[in-house]
Amino acid sequence: VALEDLRRTWETLGREDPLWAVLSNPNKRNNRWDPEEFFRTGEADIADLLDDLDRHGLQINRGRCLDFGCGVGRLTQALCGYFERVDGIDIAQSMVDRARQLNRHGERCQYHLNVRNDLALFEDATFDFVYSVIVLQHMAPEYAEAYIGEFVRVLVPAGIAVFQVPSRFIGPQALPEPGHQAELRLAAPGVLPRLAAGSPCVLTIEVKNTSPVQWRSSALLTVGNHWLDDQGRMISFDDGRIAIAGELNPGELSVVELPIRAPMRGGRYTIEVDMVEEGVAWFATKGSPTLAIPVEVDPPPRATVPLRKIRDLTGRVRRRFADAGPQPGPFEMHALPRESVVGAVESGGGEVCAVEECDVSGPGWENYRYFVRRRAR
Ligand SMILES: C[S@@+](CC[C@H](N)C(=O)[O-])C[C@H]1O[C@@H](n2cnc3c(N)ncnc32)[C@H](O)[C@@H]1O
Repeated sequence: VALEDLRRTWETLGREDPLWAVLSNPNKRNNRWDPEEFFRTGEADIADLLDDLDRHGLQINRGRCLDFGCGVGRLTQALCGYFERVDGIDIAQSMVDRARQLNRHGERCQYHLNVRNDLALFEDATFDFVYSVIVLQHMAPEYAEAYIGEFVRVLVPAGIAVFQVPSRFIGPQALPEPGHQAELRLAAPGVLPRLAAGSPCVLTIEVKNTSPVQWRSSALLTVGNHWLDDQGRMISFDDGRIAIAGELNPGELSVVELPIRAPMRGGRYTIEVDMVEEGVAWFATKGSPTLAIPVEVDPPPRATVPLRKIRDLTGRVRRRFADAGPQPGPFEMHALPRESVVGAVESGGGEVCAVEECDVSGPGWENYRYFVRRRAR
C-alpha cells in the first residue's frame, strides 16, 4: 500500500474509533474504550519497557524521546513521566489532533504530523531514545526498513531505539480445522428486557466448544453480534465483541458478557450472535450455527435525539453495512525479515544489542522487539 493510502486509512480510523484503532481489543470497538483505562495500558507498557532496558543493561539519557506512530499518545504520555521532552509523530492528522486534546504534559510533549517516508522533520542526533510499537507492522516492508534507518540517524551517539516488527507470517490461522464449531446459548433465556432504542445492554452468553479441537488461547476467539430487522435483513453487521479468555477443550463451556447496543429505531429485531476467530473468519462462514434472539426495541421518545446525531448514526450504520464481509479486522499486516532489520540498522550506523520475541501482532505472526544502539563515533 502506498503511503498516501496508508495515511487515508489511519485518518479515517482516527476520526471514527481512534482508541480502538490504536489498541484493537475486540470488546472496545465502537468507542467503548474508557480513556483512563486506555492510558493506564500505556503507563504499564512503558514501566515494563524500562525494566526490559535495565535487564539488557542498556542505559539511556532521559533527555529527548521520539514516539514514532504515536496515535492518540497512549505511550507518548507515559514516556513524559521519564523524559524531559517527548515528540510523538503520526501519519494521520485525526490522531495528532486527538493526541493534542489529550495531552497532560504541556510544552514538554509535542505532537507532529509526518506524511513523509522519512524523518526529515528531525536533524541527525536529536533523540536519546526512539520507541515504536504496533506501527511498522502495518506498512509495506520497504517503508518500515527506511524508517528503521531513520530511527538510527536521529539518535545521538550511543542513543537507544526499541521497536517491534513481525519477521514472517507463520500460518493463516491459529485454530486448525475443523475448530470453528460452537454452540451458543443465552444463559438466562426469557429475561431479556425490552430494549430502548440506542440503549446499551449486556447479554450473558454460554459458549460451548462443539468441535473436536482444543481452542488455544493463542487463537483470538471472540463472541460478536449482528442486528437483523423483522424481514431478516442485516441492518448492523458487527456490533458488540467480547473475548473468550483462556483455553477451552472440546465439549467445555465458557460464559461471556457480550455488550451490545440496540438500533436507533423502534421495532422487532433479531440479534444474531456468532463467534469470530479475529482476522480469520466468522464461525458461521464455516457452518457453525448462530444464536438468534428476537427482541422488541421501543422507539426513542420524540425529539430527544438531535437531528445532527441521527444523521451521523445513519451514516455510520450505512458505512458499516457497506463494509460488512466475512473477514473481520481492517488492518493490513506486513513482515520484515530479521536479516533486513539488522541490515537497515547496521547500514544506518547502529548495532542490534538484543532481540526478543513478542506477541503484540496476534496469532500467526513471528514477531520481534529489537533493542538497537547508535554506534558512538
Ligand atoms: C496501532 S496504532 C499504535 C499507536 C501507538 N504506537 C500505541 O501503541 O499506542 C498505529 C499508529 O501508527 C500510525 N502510523 C501508521 N503509519 C505511519 C507512518 N508511516 N508514520 C507515522 N505514523 C504512522 C497510525 O496513524 C496509528 O496512529
